[in-house]
Amino acid sequence: MEKTDLERRLLITRQAINQRVKEIALEISSDYKGKEPVLIGVLNGVVFFFADLARELSIPMTLDFVRAASYGSEMISSGTVRLTKDVEIPIEGKPVILIEDIIDTGLTLDHVVGLLRERNPESVKICTLIDKPERREKTVSIDYCGFKIEKGYLVGYGLDQNQKYRNLPDIYILE
Ligand code: IMP
Repeated sequence: MEKTDLERRLLITRQAINQRVKEIALEISSDYKGKEPVLIGVLNGVVFFFADLARELSIPMTLDFVRAASYGSEMISSGTVRLTKDVEIPIEGKPVILIEDIIDTGLTLDHVVGLLRERNPESVKICTLIDKPERREKTVSIDYCGFKIEKGYLVGYGLDQNQKYRNLPDIYILE
């Protein structure tokens, strides 16, 4: 059954998101000073975070996207991950920062990182807006994290439920 508006609670305001995005951008800009990282976003949920973060960076960068098969209409992971869109720019010898909206089981990230490493980038670091460790199945080392939320299903600022609510400027938890 689909949740109604009444069943979602404001969890992270747009102001808090904005502040945290700026802090992460400062950290990345400092860590990559003198370098030109390739930011690779995992579609679709990452689009708002990606766009906001990229515009706060003070270093040169290039960007590209991958798309992994999502949960579909379920709120639980199927456990199988498939790339439906690959990176199109060469990443060999380049410092890559993989940008995710949310890391849940870690299966998506583990798969995508594995594929990227096969192309011999100089390095691969992970940046996620939300780390949700409760259902983690694959250990992933996160280099930049916006918010750690123990559990729950989140929507807004790119995060969807059945493809809806991505455009909400704040992040809500479904109850
Ligand atoms: P993982 O492979 O289980 O880590 O799942 C990562 C993907 O699942 C994310 O990129 C989201 O598309 C989706 N996902 C996981 N948790 C949530 C949530 O709370 N809200 C919306 N999407 C989620």
